Amino acid sequence: MSTKYGKLQQQFLCCYPVNKMAWSSVKLPLNWEDQQELAIPVRRSYLGGLPQHLMHLLGDQEICTTIIQRLCGPMAENKASTGSSTYAYKHYLLEPGAHITLRESTSFVAEGTTGLCTWEAALALGDYLLQHRDLVRGKNIVELGAGAGLLGIMLKLPALQLQVGQVLLTDGSEPCVQLMRENINLNFPDTPKEQIPQAEQLNWAAVSKFPWDSYAKTDLLMAADVIYDDSQFDALLGAMDYLYSRRGGGLETLLASTVRNVDTLHKFMTQLGDSGYKVTPCANVSACASHFCRDHTAAVQIISIRR
Ligand SMILES: C[S@@+](CC[C@H](N)C(=O)[O-])C[C@H]1O[C@@H](n2cnc3c(N)ncnc32)[C@H](O)[C@@H]1O
Repeated sequence: MSTKYGKLQQQFLCCYPVNKMAWSSVKLPLNWEDQQELAIPVRRSYLGGLPQHLMHLLGDQEICTTIIQRLCGPMAENKASTGSSTYAYKHYLLEPGAHITLRESTSFVAEGTTGLCTWEAALALGDYLLQHRDLVRGKNIVELGAGAGLLGIMLKLPALQLQVGQVLLTDGSEPCVQLMRENINLNFPDTPKEQIPQAEQLNWAAVSKFPWDSYAKTDLLMAADVIYDDSQFDALLGAMDYLYSRRGGGLETLLASTVRNVDTLHKFMTQLGDSGYKVTPCANVSACASHFCRDHTAAVQIISIRR
């Protein structure tokens, strides 16, 4: 990565919104060499991402899933009919020598799930874990609603030397599990199975049917952007209750949520309290040094949950 335009290149490669890129790092006039350096190949469709603009326009406001489905569904069909791909590769450059490539959907909702692309809360939790490496060192980790698989892949990346134990990524959506496995293979070619994250289908409502005995006992649960649909709260709490009961004391959950609707988050917090959980906000989340290119428009809240 060039140091002069390193930030811009990092942002281009992970499809960061064009209007929010670090353009101030470009000092005019540009000589020929600088222009060449800035000529980074970018997908045309990413430049005009209507759903992205909508998300930014709405800011903190809660976004109705139906609107997103209506907006993104026809767009996806249209792309399919013209032969364009609805997936793109994003490259997350974290540190020198440490990068992740993910195949992700270009739509926020696709194939009946919101999990085929990476959301801000996952990026924020990734930053938080990289700032607090002791939270994951030596731990066996399970992620609920893991989507495209970014966090688990990050945790096992050899260049980051996080020294985590077993990492199990789960999601209720079959397309997400397929995508996670594809992304794991992409980032860990020729790596022994014991050293890479595992990906399995787990619907929270069916947590007791999962073959937990085939995996190491869980030390840390994590979940990003799973608190948006209150019809799923009981299932999520049921899954947590099951795992906390299995593990006994000592299990911690790190939950990262984009603050879109305060009432929705508050409702989940209340249910957590009613179920006997102790919630501690994680300090200095917004002050975390950013390894990921994050858009800070909407705040992300990270909490630690113990019982
Ligand atoms: C907004 S996405 C977040 C994905 C990823 N954690 C991220 O932040 O990029 C929510 C994820 O939760 C999963 N999910 C929602 N309800 C679920 C349930 N009842 N059981 C398991 N997974 C569920 C979805 O399939 C989706 O992958």
